[in-house]
Amino acid sequence: MKKKWWQEVVVYQIYPRSFKDSNGDGIGDIRGMIDELDYLEKLGIGAIWLSPVYQSPNDDNGYDISDYEAIMDEFGTMEDMDEFLAEANKRNIKVVMDLVVNHTSDEHQWFIEAKKGKDNPYRDYYVWADPAEDGGVPNDLRSTFSGTAWEFDELSGQYYLHLFSKKQPDLNWENEEMRQAVYDMMNFWIEKGIGGFRLDVIDLVGKIPLEGITGNGPKLHEYLQEMNQATFGNHDLLTVGETWGATPDIAKLYSNPARKELSMVFQFEHIGLDQQPGKEKWDLQPVDIAQLKTILTKWQIELGNEGWNSLFWNNHDLPRMISRWGNDQEYRVESAKMLAILLHMMKGTPYIYQGEEIGMTNTPISDISEAEDIETINMYNERLDQGYSKTEIIDSINAKGRDNARRPIAWNSKENGGFTTGTPWIALNENYQEINVAAALDDPDSIFYTYQKLVQLRKDNPIMVWGDFELVDTVDCVFSYYREYNGERWLIVTNFSNEEQAFSSEDKIEKVIIQNNKKEVTSLQNMILSPWQAFVVKVK
Ligand code: NOJ
Repeated sequence: MKKKWWQEVVVYQIYPRSFKDSNGDGIGDIRGMIDELDYLEKLGIGAIWLSPVYQSPNDDNGYDISDYEAIMDEFGTMEDMDEFLAEANKRNIKVVMDLVVNHTSDEHQWFIEAKKGKDNPYRDYYVWADPAEDGGVPNDLRSTFSGTAWEFDELSGQYYLHLFSKKQPDLNWENEEMRQAVYDMMNFWIEKGIGGFRLDVIDLVGKIPLEGITGNGPKLHEYLQEMNQATFGNHDLLTVGETWGATPDIAKLYSNPARKELSMVFQFEHIGLDQQPGKEKWDLQPVDIAQLKTILTKWQIELGNEGWNSLFWNNHDLPRMISRWGNDQEYRVESAKMLAILLHMMKGTPYIYQGEEIGMTNTPISDISEAEDIETINMYNERLDQGYSKTEIIDSINAKGRDNARRPIAWNSKENGGFTTGTPWIALNENYQEINVAAALDDPDSIFYTYQKLVQLRKDNPIMVWGDFELVDTVDCVFSYYREYNGERWLIVTNFSNEEQAFSSEDKIEKVIIQNNKKEVTSLQNMILSPWQAFVVKVK
């Protein structure tokens, strides 16, 4: 595999609405992002994945786009965006744009046209179907945001498909003109000097809805190869697909360089481990660490040289990992550092979601009126109708709801954490006086400096990028593995629990690379690991 810049960097995800507000309207914006580029440079990251900044009515916080070539008013202007790109590039930070082309907003000009009637030239840009024989929905496809995926259009007497909200009509990828229009738009951004694309729910574009096929449709890879050729194929860009159902074999179809599709995909197999099999993400079960090890190991090994991993615990759709599988109380700092070390030492490109580097936690709510997210609110109403108790639903929202990740970043301990001088669009976590960027930067032992060190280690040590992975056989709650490269061998040891755990190895320590507590590891024999302890040693 030819070495690529996107294999060597660490990527940082910005969710602009919650990052930094510069003008006091309570909503993060591009000028706020420009102001904090120095902070990101200090962290050391090489690329930003920027969640959507395009014009949008915000039914799904920007994932419902009404103009791909304009900036959302609340976020600023195209001049601000150009300046952001220039300032990021000056600091050697590439900007990966979110590409949301499974659907548009219903306020996109294409859909406004398409709705005018069956013979409108844009009609076929979207997915329409006649009612079933009884006049009802064409079939029982469900929207990710609860309820049917079909919405009736009075004027034409047909239904349109929306796999997300009804304000997010699905594009019809069978339509060649539509595909070309998407490629033109992508080239518009490529010409601006962006660093790549994160492709939103890209596994859905090959759908055949009337046959009940949504993910991994038959023409999916054909479309991606066509897109690659028409857009980023001749540029040195990072492309990462969001692919919920991917197995390692499917991931190789997307990311094998020989196939000319994408750089890598986000796979979610580990993310589903605290969900009851066959049910929805809200149906909780405790995570089994032994299973987590099996799955992550499978991904580390099976891609071989025919694919590339992305490594992540968090994003704007997922709860905060320290609250989820770490311990956000007694061991907040230890477990955050442990999760960071465990992830960044694996093979693949690591992603940090904003706030992860200072150990932000989930923000529990006690009433649905505190929720902002459409997925959460729709699910709440649906489950109430189905007879679930309020407490039960609120518990699953607190465990899995997307607002957990979307609370504003606290930059300091002042009012509203310095996020805004106005009223924030969603309240900050109450713990912001303790957990904020200024406090993290002031404390040499903070989680921030562990992340900074991991990013630097990656730059200095090719073994972190290219080394082979080998799992070590241990008790369930200890997750340990080797990386090996050009005769060099590193041993990673982490305790994934609130209890002490036994660990032993015959290896001799040559050098301690990083650790999350102050007691220097001197011997690997018959160790008792403290709760959430993590270290990496170079061994002989
Ligand atoms: C995945 C995005 O990450 C999520 O935030 C969004 O709601 C859906 N795709 C629909 O665009």
